[in-house]
Amino acid sequence: MSERRISRRGLLAGGAAGLAGGAGLAVAGVVDSLPARAGDTPRPEAQPAPGAAVEPFHGARQAGVATRPQAHAAFAGLDLRKGVGKEALGRLMRILTDDARRLTSGRGALADTEPELAALPARLTITFGFGPGLFEKAGIEGGPVQLPRFSVDRLEDRWSGGDLLLQICCEDPVTLAHALRMTLKDAKSFAGVRWVQRGFRQAVQKPGLTQRNLMGQLDGTVNPRPGTPDFDRAVWIADGPLAGGTMLVLRRIRMLMDSWDAADRVAKEFTVGRRLADGAPLTGRAEHDEADFAKLNAIGFPIIAEYAHIRRARVEDPGSRMFRRVYNYDDGDTGLLFASYQADVERQFTPVQRRLAEADLLNEWTTPIGSAVFYIPPGCGESGWVGDGLLA
Ligand code: HEM
Repeated sequence: MSERRISRRGLLAGGAAGLAGGAGLAVAGVVDSLPARAGDTPRPEAQPAPGAAVEPFHGARQAGVATRPQAHAAFAGLDLRKGVGKEALGRLMRILTDDARRLTSGRGALADTEPELAALPARLTITFGFGPGLFEKAGIEGGPVQLPRFSVDRLEDRWSGGDLLLQICCEDPVTLAHALRMTLKDAKSFAGVRWVQRGFRQAVQKPGLTQRNLMGQLDGTVNPRPGTPDFDRAVWIADGPLAGGTMLVLRRIRMLMDSWDAADRVAKEFTVGRRLADGAPLTGRAEHDEADFAKLNAIGFPIIAEYAHIRRARVEDPGSRMFRRVYNYDDGDTGLLFASYQADVERQFTPVQRRLAEADLLNEWTTPIGSAVFYIPPGCGESGWVGDGLLA
């Protein structure tokens, strides 16, 4: 390929439209491999904007569950205004679906006053959830059930409950803030904000590697893997009127960092049953080695303690596990936005949380201060809207 026949400049101008997608990456690769001339100044448009990546909005499932977690998240819990019932909810969900469809593809929402802020979708996903109160107000039976109270709970109203959930995840916090503002603005006459919880994950981690939470642990090692039959069985509701959706449990869990700082590494690793450095179980060498819960130390005690977090949280059947997609928070208070998705909360979440509440060494350093449950309806096609199966 001679420099004379295809100029760097020509290729870039012609390829600009394609730079948003995978094809753009290929073009950029060609451009990068062209010989540089002396005196060439790097042109900013030579690289596809990292923010150009799009997560598809349409599909059988809503994006934002099986989607590889983006670096930033905002969960907003809304309460429906008085008198908002099924018909009004249908109107609201049509509007919000239209917002999500546009914003996730890099376009402004309808009547967006600053559409420029939507131009870099940065893998934006907007996921909607319906709380127990929404089902009640719409007169629909069979919605999510409130969790029982667990002995470790110190729940605060300001982080709990909610009729409608907006879960907005994005690699770019500015795009995210804009999407949150636009959707809250459009929901305003139907629903008021009860709480907003913002979280973040390691932004520069290689895809596929486990992220660290703010206690320094690798968090997410034993977790159903999207794209596998176990994931589908664990996460998606298979039949009945809610089929195709999933249930989200969102818990705001404070970490007591002062006392965690006072613990030594041995105690910290004993608490979870895994090593801090590499996440390996205390009985293994590498992160994904199977934990050996029967293995004893020289004086006959289990190496992974009776009340270690991973022993207490263990669920043997991979298709019955919950799927954890957690975010850290650190806004004067430090902790974890523990988000788990499962087909059946009472079968998959509640027994584990009950075991952890009864005995888990980690309880010494963690306190649940918020709790909410939402049904995440299936996704929709180009002419549909999220929730149409229930509210139409
Ligand atoms: C701030 C609170 C929490 C922290 C810091 C935390 C941290 C961890 C860590 C470090 C692991 C080991 C690595 C992994 O497999 O991901 C783990 C595993 C796990 N956690 Fe938690 N966790 C917390 C709360 C919870 C809660 C509330 C639940 C569910 C009710 C839960 C369920 C699980 C499960 C199911 C596993 C996998 C256990 C296995 O089979 O090995 N965790 N957690």
